[in-house]
Amino acid sequence: MEGALLSVENVSVYYHTPQGETEAVRDLSFSVQKGEFVAVVGPSGCGKTTMLSLIMGLNPPSAGQVRFPLGPCPMGYMLQRDNLLEWRTLEKNTVLGLEVQHRLNGESRGQTVALLKKYGLGDFLSHLPGQLSGGMRQKAALIRTLALDPELLLLDEPFSALDYQTRLTLADEVFAIIHEEGKTALLVTHDIGEAVSMADRVLVFSDRPATMKREIVLDFPRSMRPLARRESPAFQEYFAAIWKELQQ
Ligand SMILES: Nc1ncnc2c1ncn2[C@@H]1O[C@H](COP(=O)(O)OP(=O)(O)OP(=O)(O)O)[C@@H](O)[C@H]1O
Ligand SMILES: [Mg+2]
Repeated sequence: MEGALLSVENVSVYYHTPQGETEAVRDLSFSVQKGEFVAVVGPSGCGKTTMLSLIMGLNPPSAGQVRFPLGPCPMGYMLQRDNLLEWRTLEKNTVLGLEVQHRLNGESRGQTVALLKKYGLGDFLSHLPGQLSGGMRQKAALIRTLALDPELLLLDEPFSALDYQTRLTLADEVFAIIHEEGKTALLVTHDIGEAVSMADRVLVFSDRPATMKREIVLDFPRSMRPLARRESPAFQEYFAAIWKELQQ
């Protein structure tokens, strides 16, 4: 497809363990366009994280292929756990990836600090992670990833460890950051509301082995943020449609 940053083509994955063989993903195909925000919803254990590790290249598909038609695609991750190092300050945590890749210099540090300030963490640069709220920690984890300037962000249940109110406000902020920074995103979540409030398109996966049940294109104005979407009548309709799809 023209403009596809990522193309997953007829991919299947089997895990082999001493207990036997598990089929995690079956003949799955989809693509993600540059600049698009795609959400994946599916039942627990259906194979969503497996699909993300496949895209990251952490394990190979048993059949099919994952392609990046526009060329090499630097990726960043935001996971359920923030993996901040408790003994490093917020600033030192967010430049860690740069440091590991030998890309930390005055300029890249300045850009990272600018991101922290722009997105509301400027007053906490020398705080330790333990002195921050859960939402702030997750936002710091996102900025740590953005500091490496990835093209594609892979988000695996990034809000699921947070309380409800924090989830809603952080999802709203993360949406704004991803749009503002012009990133492409693939979000995996159990939470239908999260998918409908953030994505341009939702992929509904079946029970394990994960197959594509349905693709739903969400027709919200591009600038409409998650909290505003939740107030709209269309939100309820999409929510109901995905809920029904998951029940079948
Ligand atoms: N490294 C592994 N070795 C063997 N089996 C695995 C491995 N990783 C995952 N599985 C199995 O593959 C299936 C899919 O797991 P996966 O973690 O991809 O699901 P998920 O959709 O991300 O689940 P959740 O919603 O709970 O995060 C599960 O049955 C799991 O037990
Ligand atoms: Mg998972």
